[in-house]
Amino acid sequence: MKIVVMGASGHGQVVADILFQMWAKGREMELVGFLDDDQKLTGTRIMGLPVLGRFADLAATPHDCVILGIGDNADRARVHAELTQARKRFATAIHPSAILAPDVIVGAGSALAAGAIANPGARIGDNVILNTGASIDHHCVLGAHSHVAPGAHLAGRVTVGEGAFIGVGACAVQCVQIGAWSVVGAGAAVTQDVPERVTVGGVPAKPL
Ligand SMILES: CC(C)(COP(=O)(O)OP(=O)(O)OC[C@H]1O[C@@H](n2cnc3c(N)ncnc32)[C@H](O)[C@@H]1OP(=O)(O)O)[C@@H](O)C(=O)NCCC(=O)NCCS
Repeated sequence: MKIVVMGASGHGQVVADILFQMWAKGREMELVGFLDDDQKLTGTRIMGLPVLGRFADLAATPHDCVILGIGDNADRARVHAELTQARKRFATAIHPSAILAPDVIVGAGSALAAGAIANPGARIGDNVILNTGASIDHHCVLGAHSHVAPGAHLAGRVTVGEGAFIGVGACAVQCVQIGAWSVVGAGAAVTQDVPERVTVGGVPAKPL
């Protein structure tokens, strides 16, 4: 299976590394390289992989599927919609050190980084990032295009809406709902539901 990583910046490199670690553990795949809209990168190599062109060059790049190496949730959702429209298939990247209960569902195109943990009953939507050392406990639901940043921890039955972002080191108590496209600041402790499209921070988290 030939995989192209769309986006060669920091998160794209994390995604490429996850795929490389999967390959090193025996998963059959061919990492074709990156595409990135920063034209200066075309023709360079990053992590030993070629940057083959811009996103628009995907059609000319041999591939069976793609995965998005884009950290920003809105950008990742937009590119995901375009590629879905173009009927592209999405690879899913799960680092070999991630720990998932057997019944956890992981959506297409999602990336689970080193040390990520998802406990029983958790559902991870499409195009989600569960980042380094982040944990979601039993029956959490992560909406499509959401991102749980490094070291963030969600207690059981927390719902994260589509496109929502949980900042590095933040946490949420059990059963809270975090609205679509909201942002939870770094280090926050969410103790109550968060409406859609707001930014909260602090301990306990309040609108910023
Ligand atoms: C919450 C956040 C999105 C706000 O960013 P912003 O809109 O640029 O806000 P600013 O930096 O201008 O700060 C606005 C105010 O909020 C406060 N603030 C910012 N981040 C905060 C946080 N995490 N917790 C509490 N207060 C915070 C600032 O001190 C400032 O307060 P002031 O007006 O009294 O001076 C950002 O600070 C943050 O925490 N991002 C998470 C980054 C992250 O986790 N990255 C991981 C990538 S993998």
